[in-house]
Amino acid sequence: GPDFETILLERKGRVALITLNRPKALNALNSQVLADISAALDELENDDEVGAVVLTGSDRAFAAGADIKEMQSKSYMDMFLTDHFSGWDRLVAFRKPIIAAVAGYALGGGCELAMMCDILLAADTAKFGQPEIKLGVIPGMGGSQRLTRAVGKAKAMDLILTGRNMDAEEAERAGLVSRIVPAADLVATAMEVAETVAAMSLPSVMIAKEAVDRAFETTLTEGLRFERRVFHSLFATEDQKEGMTAFVEKRPANFTNK
Ligand code: CAA
Repeated sequence: GPDFETILLERKGRVALITLNRPKALNALNSQVLADISAALDELENDDEVGAVVLTGSDRAFAAGADIKEMQSKSYMDMFLTDHFSGWDRLVAFRKPIIAAVAGYALGGGCELAMMCDILLAADTAKFGQPEIKLGVIPGMGGSQRLTRAVGKAKAMDLILTGRNMDAEEAERAGLVSRIVPAADLVATAMEVAETVAAMSLPSVMIAKEAVDRAFETTLTEGLRFERRVFHSLFATEDQKEGMTAFVEKRPANFTNK
């Protein structure tokens, strides 16, 4: 709604678009941004009309990191007692797919926020990095773990220890992003991808997301067992009957998310 200070929330069909909107701070992620995103996700999670979310920033910056000015004078106890950054777990717990559309800087917490999303699309202008080492700290919103899983140890160490940026080409080669899109088409492409996903049966989309995420949390045997069990469970949906019947009858499926 109109009640967010630091983000814009729009809807187009079954897709919601969240645009980070702190241009003067290059969308630095302060506690208000987290509060706004969390409130928006609470709203979208409970809205049956929403099947997928796009998260984007501006042409210049997806987000230039956690807000350094907000953290500058904090003590160890301030950080520890509030479990600083743990609130971003709300995004990870969101059960519908989130597509990050990244143009410009995705640095520090901005890169980490993009990596919390499910599909990562990069404009040809995108720059990814974990420059925290230059501030005398390290990544704190998942960078040491998610970047390493995404691009492997050698490149993760290279980026995290030197603080250098990586351009969109390098990020795609390394497997961090799934596609590079001309900057002018970024949001439209992300919306199309989201519309494609949102047109599928929502239960199968949510279970697919959960199953892929499980691959990062468990052994192959347990992951395969989980996949098979949830695959079986989809035969309890009306949409499985509709999807397979539509194929046999050579017509488009009309999913009802039941
Ligand atoms: N926090 C707070 N403010 C920020 C910010 C951040 N992370 N990044 C940029 N800004 C502010 C700048 O302070 C500046 O504000 P003022 O006009 O009030 O001075 C404004 O945004 C514009 O920035 P610049 O003038 O620096 O723009 P530039 O084009 O010269 O440089 C940049 C762009 C290279 C991205 C540069 O802004 C920069 O290096 N930003 C910080 C990047 C960074 O270190 N990110 C990691 C933060 S720590 C973190 O994220 C921890 C974690 O793991 C979660």
